[in-house]
Formats: sequence, structure tokens, C-alpha cells
Amino acid sequence: MFNIHLPRYERIWLWVGSGSLVVFLGILGFLAFSAGLHPPGQMRIIAPETARTTPPFDKPGLTQIGPNEYRATMLAQMFSYVPGNLTIPAGSTVHFEVTSPDVVHGFQIPGTNVNLMAVPGHITDYTYTFKNPGEYLILCNEYCGVGHQVMSNKIVVQ
Ligand code: CUA
Repeated sequence: MFNIHLPRYERIWLWVGSGSLVVFLGILGFLAFSAGLHPPGQMRIIAPETARTTPPFDKPGLTQIGPNEYRATMLAQMFSYVPGNLTIPAGSTVHFEVTSPDVVHGFQIPGTNVNLMAVPGHITDYTYTFKNPGEYLILCNEYCGVGHQVMSNKIVVQ
């Protein structure tokens, strides 16, 4: 195709190099598809421009859905979480559903394995059981603008 003269060994190595790239990407793709790997969450989508008026995010808050079981519907936005601080009894299982109406935010609760991303257009789901009483911080760990460092919230487990 190109009228460039390459030494024989260089041509061979170009084929070996690009060939192994294709083989490795192929193996990776095949394994990912056959194992059904996908990003966490249920891949629910929502229009970010209207997220604040779209159910369930038109009424963000904590809803009791069973004994010791809650759903926390939360907006992560510049530069706060809606609703504000939450209070739950110890031993509660909380199903978080989080989205962002503006930019990407973090949703991390230090000391737990809750570490989510609030991505505009997507709803991120995660379930966690708060066994021990105490005050848990929700922190934004994705730089989101001038107010990023003040973006936090509290969960009080009684
Ligand atoms: Cu929101 Cu950083």
C-alpha cells in the first residue's frame, strides 16, 4: 500500500506486533462478553436536564420500604446532596439510588465499601447495611467545580 521500503525483519515485527494486539484485544473482548462483565449498577438512565422533576428524583428522600430497610433517593449536585443529612436506626439496610443533574460527582462513605459515581444521565444503585451506630460522612471524591471541597453530607446511624 505505501511505497516505503522496510527491511524484512521490520516488516515481520510489524505484523507480529499488530497481530498480537488484535489477538489480545480479541481475547479480552471475548472473555468480557462471555463472562457478562459490565459496569456496576442496573444501567438505569434518566435525562439529566429534567432529573429534578423526574420520578423518583422529584421527591428525593429516605423512604422506609420494610423492617430495617430503606430506600435513599438522592441527587448529587453542585455542591450538595439532596436530601441533606439522613438518620436511620442501626442495622438498617439502605438501597441508595443516586444521580446527578449537572456534572459527575462522587458518593463515597469512608469506612464502608460505598464508593459510587453520580453520573449525569445514569442512576447508580447500591445497597449497604449500616451495622454500627455512628456518624457516617458522604463525600464527593470527583472534582466537580469551585465548591467541590464543601460537598458532603451525613448519615446518622442511631
Ligand atoms: Cu461534587 Cu466534587
